[in-house]
Amino acid sequence: MPNVKRPFTVKGRPFYPIGGQTRNSSGYNDQEWATALRALELMHGNTLEIPVYWEQVEPEEGVYRFDHLEQLLTDAISHDIHLILLWFGTWKNGNMEYVPDWVKTAPERFKRAISPTGHQLWVLSSHCEATFEADRRAFTALCEFLKEADSDRQQVIAIQIENEPGILGSDRDYGPEAQAKLESDVPREVFEGLQVLESGPLHALWQAAGGATSGPWYEVFGDGAGEMMTAWSIARYIDRLAEAGKEIYELPMYLNVWLGETGWQIPGESYPSGGAVTKVLDLVKWATPHVDLVAPDIYLSDSRSYEAICAAYARDDNPLFIPESAPGSSNPVRMFQAIGDYDAVGYAFFAIEHIVDEAGEVRLSLLPLVDSFRCIAAAVPLLLEYQGTGQIYTVAQETDLGLQIYDFEGYTGLVDFGGTYGRDWRHLGPSLEPDANPGPGRGLIVQVSTHEFYLVGANYRLHLRPKAAPSEQLQAARVNERLLTRLAHYVRVDEGHFEGEGAFVVDRRRNGDETDNGIWVEADVGVVHVLMSDILSPLKGGGSHRELSRLWFDSNAN
Ligand code: DGJ
Repeated sequence: MPNVKRPFTVKGRPFYPIGGQTRNSSGYNDQEWATALRALELMHGNTLEIPVYWEQVEPEEGVYRFDHLEQLLTDAISHDIHLILLWFGTWKNGNMEYVPDWVKTAPERFKRAISPTGHQLWVLSSHCEATFEADRRAFTALCEFLKEADSDRQQVIAIQIENEPGILGSDRDYGPEAQAKLESDVPREVFEGLQVLESGPLHALWQAAGGATSGPWYEVFGDGAGEMMTAWSIARYIDRLAEAGKEIYELPMYLNVWLGETGWQIPGESYPSGGAVTKVLDLVKWATPHVDLVAPDIYLSDSRSYEAICAAYARDDNPLFIPESAPGSSNPVRMFQAIGDYDAVGYAFFAIEHIVDEAGEVRLSLLPLVDSFRCIAAAVPLLLEYQGTGQIYTVAQETDLGLQIYDFEGYTGLVDFGGTYGRDWRHLGPSLEPDANPGPGRGLIVQVSTHEFYLVGANYRLHLRPKAAPSEQLQAARVNERLLTRLAHYVRVDEGHFEGEGAFVVDRRRNGDETDNGIWVEADVGVVHVLMSDILSPLKGGGSHRELSRLWFDSNAN
């Protein structure tokens, strides 16, 4: 069984959300919402992430309005898409922009976080119970509405609680309640967790401060105490919201993160302090038993930074979900890394409206990104079945990468990029279509059994050779002269798509010229299914690669 926890389901069945997040104000404006729906259609996505604003839901204290959300649900049904709702409540990007007027204008009741110099920040304090109670009432009203309006259909598959919470402007709240917390003992759960942590940034911080096993925050975490205490406080606030929400309506709930790996990496300046950045992730996980996952918003583009974030957030206790990513030039390839190498259970990019041009079609500059989403959408049944099995291989062309080699069961794979040779008449390539930027070679290869592969992606070509000793490979190469790809014989190569319960439906067969130069993919061909010749079938009976390749060689020598 695949070792991937799937938080998202529809009517009890695993669901893979793929799509985009609207811009922040699209939930208010019908025209932008309509553009977002069009964008999702263009990218073949199945899920739209859209904010629900506390200030819109509760314009007057205690009076809740969900007419707007009702309209979103109606449109989602008619477009046959799912929604993830983003609860813009106490926090939005480390401040309080989306709280109702009656909260913004009553700082004596809804206390603000206080800066080191004693100023009120434009951020609500996580230590103010009145604010928590007000947010809880509104959030649970939302859950009640959803349970009533949507539990039958389940158009809404999850709620993000708050948005990139934390404090911008200070490393912590310097108000009296927060000060008292800092001076109080670190909770028992934190010490229990620290005892079993053997490494990682939190462990290092704790050890550097002396490794105390009891005592107040400032003693246990030294200079990092302010941020640690804030992270705990905000995470507990959000967990209590999740607990209250789930008591009403059991939906997956997650929190998202403005990454700490940015700029000078100073809490409160480079990123909102108290957000679930990598260095506090352990602490946040201990504080949030009712939260399904902590999700990084990844706007980093280089491979090393991107993969480091995927590695940090993809944990046994935290499936990787990327609710926001950049429309930028590297995302078309990065997303395959997150999904193929780190088992991301869903993927979205921010500002989905941008992909729609004036004519209502895909903006040419974003075509590579849209194509990548289209490929993932086509592969969803494969992801649901094979993530976590080790049978999914990622194709990710970095700048200057010419070839990628793969060690499959029974076969060696070689992927090259670009080039138009061997493609069919529909895919003559960029040289004949100078405006089209195909993007880097990218995609996924799924080996479902020894001789059977599915491929999705764009701008790459896979060549397969049965594994054999070098001497046998050399003889085979001589026999086959220059067409090295013919070292592997296909039973068939088909383009197709998955339907219903995941049955593969063939749309188009390839043979001859279209397969002689390897198995090429493009976003508009859907999924390519490859069945290798069963000449190697004794492999199933346990024959060694060496024997099998001899068998193969003998039968092909003339
Ligand atoms: C991350 C936030 O979560 C979004 O709401 C939006 O503000 C983007 N940043 C803008 O890049």
